[in-house]
Amino acid sequence: MAKVIRTYKGGSLSATCLMRNEDGKLFVRKSVSLIENREYGFQRWYSQLKRLQRYSALFPGLFPRVIRFGKDNEIAYFDIEYFESAINAQEYIEQCQQDSEVDEFFISLINIMSILHKTEIPSNAESMELYLNEEIEQRLKDCSKNKAFIDFLKYEEILFNGTKAKPFLSVLDEYKILCKQCYVSPTETFTHGNITLENMLYVVGEKRIILIDPYEENIIDSVLAEYSQLLQSTNSKYEMYNCRNATVVDNKIVLTLPKSFGIEYLNEKILQHIRNTYSQNDYIVVRLLEISQFIRMLPFKMAVDESKMIFFYGLASYLFELLREEYIALGGSEI
Ligand SMILES: Nc1ncnc2c1ncn2[C@@H]1O[C@H](COP(=O)(O)OP(=O)(O)O)[C@@H](O)[C@H]1O
Ligand SMILES: [Mg+2]
Repeated sequence: MAKVIRTYKGGSLSATCLMRNEDGKLFVRKSVSLIENREYGFQRWYSQLKRLQRYSALFPGLFPRVIRFGKDNEIAYFDIEYFESAINAQEYIEQCQQDSEVDEFFISLINIMSILHKTEIPSNAESMELYLNEEIEQRLKDCSKNKAFIDFLKYEEILFNGTKAKPFLSVLDEYKILCKQCYVSPTETFTHGNITLENMLYVVGEKRIILIDPYEENIIDSVLAEYSQLLQSTNSKYEMYNCRNATVVDNKIVLTLPKSFGIEYLNEKILQHIRNTYSQNDYIVVRLLEISQFIRMLPFKMAVDESKMIFFYGLASYLFELLREEYIALGGSEI
């Protein structure tokens, strides 16, 4: 019988652990209930299994190999290659003190993204309608029966770390208009689908990034969505917020983060790269999708930690407030 050596903390409804076989070999197992919460549990887990299988064949060395998958009573599981000498990229970047360390990581990141995103798949801009329906409106609807969420919705203004912001639901129409107006480059590609820093492993000595935890539920498989998920980590500091607890009193949300040179510096590099490579419309789409990441995660947060659901709804509201100002400063018309 294989033995559990360690259980990893993760943000999803599936469980991840390190295991050892009878023959001493280590592997990572991701398992999920076949009964409970199938939409946000099993369906996501299944999309990950299929992406890992296909991407290991298409992009050798970029993702962990799937060793086996199956079912054990009411649990589905898959086992993947374990990277013993790798460190989680969020942990690594957060503690970096030197430009050169982050520069090396950034070069590797852009390199693997260019491999993954090489294939161009023609698509159409109307797909944004489906994205907004599924990833924004449906996700908000999924939370709308939750008591804590309903209670928070009664405020006409949110104070996020002292800054005033209109609640996201009250600016949803503006948000949708801007998304449809700016999404004019509808080319798609092979994406990771959840490419945040916590979903990358880094082998420092080899300057090698391994991508873990991909998902199939992006609707729009755009490189712009991929950049929005990187910004979710570096610009909106998802992981740093997610591992801490906010204070929420009435409409006031407070959570102060420690400074991280590595995260700030990587953020500058990513933003500069996006601005140098893409049009202004594409840049705005990346920033709009960055906000959408915090809305589409709300039902998962509702399932694992309600206070995080309120916090990330507040963060999305605050981020749209900032983006509206930036959009106008860039010469965009009033929305
Ligand atoms: N193949 C692997 N090798 C080494 N560590 C891994 C591997 N897969 C996952 N981990 C560790 O487990 C953590 C959670 O894995 P992840 O697939 O991101 O789960 P979740 O869906 O819960 O976010 C990762 O942050 C990483 O530290
Ligand atoms: Mg993960």
